[in-house]
Amino acid sequence: MLTRVVWSALSLVPSVCAGLVAEQQPFSNAPDIISTTASDVKVPVTLGVMSRCPDALLCEAVFDQVLKKVADKVDLRLTYIGKLNSSEPVFGVECLHGPQECAGNVQQLCVAKYRPMPLWWEYVMCQDYQSKEKVGLADIALKCARVVGIDWETSDVGRCAGLDGSGTGEEGIALLKESVQATKALNVEKSCTILINNEQICIHDETWKECENGHAPADFVRQIQAAYDKLNEGFSMI
Ligand SMILES: *[C@@H]1O[C@H](CO)[C@@H](O)[C@H](O)[C@H]1NC(C)=O
Repeated sequence: MLTRVVWSALSLVPSVCAGLVAEQQPFSNAPDIISTTASDVKVPVTLGVMSRCPDALLCEAVFDQVLKKVADKVDLRLTYIGKLNSSEPVFGVECLHGPQECAGNVQQLCVAKYRPMPLWWEYVMCQDYQSKEKVGLADIALKCARVVGIDWETSDVGRCAGLDGSGTGEEGIALLKESVQATKALNVEKSCTILINNEQICIHDETWKECENGHAPADFVRQIQAAYDKLNEGFSMI
């Protein structure tokens, strides 16, 4: 049983990235696939994260290894854990590691919306590399944009997340709210939660938990490969 902790207590001691208590909903195993290529179906891979959570940074580092093997077989996305709260003045969302985390989430969501793989992933890696304390800071957002070659101030990314790098752009905040709701609909409460083909297969919450089929990069690669083969069964006969 996972420990459930009260949100308000957590925001005072943000060392653990346990999530919020969401209403239980039946978990769907049904693949939700929209193939954009005629040739194959990618495996949906989702990481439930908080941008300043150490568990999230760890998962993302592991998936950086995983991507080196199966980048062309996955449709990777990050979904953010938070809590809608209209009393929150800037974002209307409470993020466990504070408003700076909400800003980091928005920056990442806007880059992911307007830049393809692997660019948006490189952007997240750049932020993580600066350390979790710095994820969400405006100067780091702009610096990482320069590092990966995004012209923030004059592009759709900047208009989405805020031209000043603050993560407070109107569109970006709307993306954050959507993401938080989507995360809740997936029953994802812990950062980091790993879903392959819409199935929760592993959690890192201070330690690895509920990872029946392993938690090394090779274990994730193997599970992705198996899901890919299953999703694409019969393609070779066409
Ligand atoms: C919403 O945010 C306000 C301001 O931070 C806080 O006082 C309140 O407790 C929060 N409400 C809930 C339901 O968490």
